[in-house]
Amino acid sequence: MSIQPHGGKLVYSYNPNEPVQNIEKEIQLDAIALSDLELIGIGAYSPLEGFLTKSDYENVVEKMRLSSGIVWSIPITLPVADDIASNLKVGEKAKLTFDGEIYGLIEINDIYTPDKNVEALLVYGTNDLNHPGVKKLFERPKTYVGGKTTLLKKAKKEFPSYSFEPKETRALFEEKGWRTVVGFQTRNPVHRAHEYIQKIALEIVDGLFLNPLVGETKSDDIPANIRMESYEVLLNKYYPKERVQLGVFLAAMRYAGPREAIFHALVRKNYGCTHFIVGRDHAGVGDYYGTYDAQKIFEQFAPEEIGITPLKFEHSFYCNDCEGMATTKTCPHDASSRVILSGTKVRELLRNGEIPPSTFSRKEVVEVLIRGLRQTVH
Ligand code: ADX
Repeated sequence: MSIQPHGGKLVYSYNPNEPVQNIEKEIQLDAIALSDLELIGIGAYSPLEGFLTKSDYENVVEKMRLSSGIVWSIPITLPVADDIASNLKVGEKAKLTFDGEIYGLIEINDIYTPDKNVEALLVYGTNDLNHPGVKKLFERPKTYVGGKTTLLKKAKKEFPSYSFEPKETRALFEEKGWRTVVGFQTRNPVHRAHEYIQKIALEIVDGLFLNPLVGETKSDDIPANIRMESYEVLLNKYYPKERVQLGVFLAAMRYAGPREAIFHALVRKNYGCTHFIVGRDHAGVGDYYGTYDAQKIFEQFAPEEIGITPLKFEHSFYCNDCEGMATTKTCPHDASSRVILSGTKVRELLRNGEIPPSTFSRKEVVEVLIRGLRQTVH
């Protein structure tokens, strides 16, 4: 018996045959809304059945719950340009399009103007426009349309062999005989610290679902195609094949730290994971969040309200004196013994073709990253 989806039922609203000829109104999606539409349709965001209505939105922003009381931490909204929004009416249907193609439709339940300042402060903990998630929030149009959606068309997949829907991963895990599965979110290449915490988790659960996010990220994050190649070489050489499944996560990165950690966990539950890794500064950016805020936020909920078990890890690194990987919980040595490189530092090294130490990243991974980044520069 696999783990219950969030809210008890896996949503599935894909219907390519849904008639749309008589629907005149059209809302153009941006890349984030396009991925959200699909993630709603395939049930990754269960129990969401569409873009948040006003009351769900307000509850999510203020209380991290839908109006039903079910925990939900990130507002999944459909921002619509003013000139389009002023022509829409509650009760109508509208086509949802991207690049001139119809991807879905929405039954308009609400048209509302959010207080984005409140959304920024409560969801991101800041209204600083230097925060990439906040910047994006304010760049998107200022009217939201809420309502149930139908997915008519799935976007062409960049990584078809690693694209799975929740019902597929659930079947896959069952087929593999995994009763417990740990989900791992990442927007980065997998370095030794990631590998270490994944493998500790693998010591106690049956399988690892390496689920890198490949939706919109900020421009200095490493592009998804390069990362995917780096995951392949790493898994091939250093992981037991029968205990790991690689699959992409289509969502955009919000950089909302603690709130996003809850969201990431709930979504992985929908994919069939029983456990979820939350390490240091999960989904964080800059200094906006405390190192372990994304772990502490889980204490605000009863475990059964979340349903998936967070596996919390302290800052991990290679320690020259321990002669192995360790964390702040297990290593008694000071900073001078520890190999700790910031993401920015590593990107700088890689872009200059310099090789970070093998205690930081496997050489096979580094080779892929250097080659990939060189190609993106030319
Ligand atoms: S994230 O934005 O997708 O969370 P990242 O890819 O850096 O970023 O991290 C993936 C997961 O690994 C997160 O749970 C994060 O907290 C954890 N993590 C990253 N680096 C470390 C580290 N050095 N020690 C412990 N956990 C880490």
